Amino acid sequence: MIPPTQNRTHAPMPERIIIDTDPGHDDAFAILLALASPELDVLGITTVAGNVPVAVVTANARRIVELAGRPGIPVHQGAERPLLRDPMHAADIHGDTGIDGYDWPAPANPPEAEHALDFMVRTLTAAEPRSVTLVPLGPLTNIALLLRRAPHLSDRIRRIVLMGGGFFEGGNYAPAAEFNILVDPEAAAIVFGAGIELAAMPIDCTNNTLTPDWWIGRLAALGTRVGDACAGMQRFFEIAGNRKYGTRTRPLHDVLAMAYLLWPDLFAGRLCNVEIETNSELTRGATVVDWWYRTTRPHNCTWVRQCLDTPELYTRILARLATL
Ligand code: RIB
Ligand code: CA
Repeated sequence: MIPPTQNRTHAPMPERIIIDTDPGHDDAFAILLALASPELDVLGITTVAGNVPVAVVTANARRIVELAGRPGIPVHQGAERPLLRDPMHAADIHGDTGIDGYDWPAPANPPEAEHALDFMVRTLTAAEPRSVTLVPLGPLTNIALLLRRAPHLSDRIRRIVLMGGGFFEGGNYAPAAEFNILVDPEAAAIVFGAGIELAAMPIDCTNNTLTPDWWIGRLAALGTRVGDACAGMQRFFEIAGNRKYGTRTRPLHDVLAMAYLLWPDLFAGRLCNVEIETNSELTRGATVVDWWYRTTRPHNCTWVRQCLDTPELYTRILARLATL
């Protein structure tokens, strides 16, 4: 008699992701969370001009993967400016280094010689259909360039989960626009119009999911280089942010996009139509969300509206960071 096979419970395969990013304090937390999460397989990091110029965000991405003890994660430099418009940066929030608040060593290793777009094209070409998730955490320039250069590879993309946009909250870098979309609205219009499964983590959710009062103390209490770096970054991020927004603690925008990948049950949102304003100088970069289905426009985006348990969310993130 052949013994029954063990009905081992198989953990699902890790979700293969490419993080497109402009570190950036909140980007740093998001990258660290991804690298600490066995549910995710980080194929590589691509960088884009955003919070600070692209050469700086690229060196920062190298610093972050090395801090995480994952120096083998490839970092590929990408677009140095938006598709059409002049570059915009956010040094007033992130400091000149982009990740002020910690005494970062210089990166031990350089970024890859291969450009970000070449890396994404090569990776998607070798990928099975719908097998790679893109996680953009900055302006969408690289993703738009990829979709324009290699539209035939869209079917290799499983989904896009991005941080960006604002509707009920208005904007954070213009009255009607959130920074990532404002910097390159033409790129955002291409991505939101690509017909690829898309989820957006907007400031509607992040601005109402501030880090808890215990956050910095618990990071510092980890007694690790990651904990020290995160506590230092958060202290700086709070000072700069509070001066501008007047909140006591801060929304770690990008880390919520990564948390949505890991724990969607902690969030609530709605599949609906989202369009990008690219013509009006008054409302350029606005994400126009048809939340009440007033039009027949395609439902192209899951718009994440709120976190259902903020203390649980940050407790889970802290537990993951503690493993690095
Ligand atoms: O508006 C917040 C977004 O802009 C975040 O991604 C932050 O890192 C900045 O890029
Ligand atoms: Ca970012």
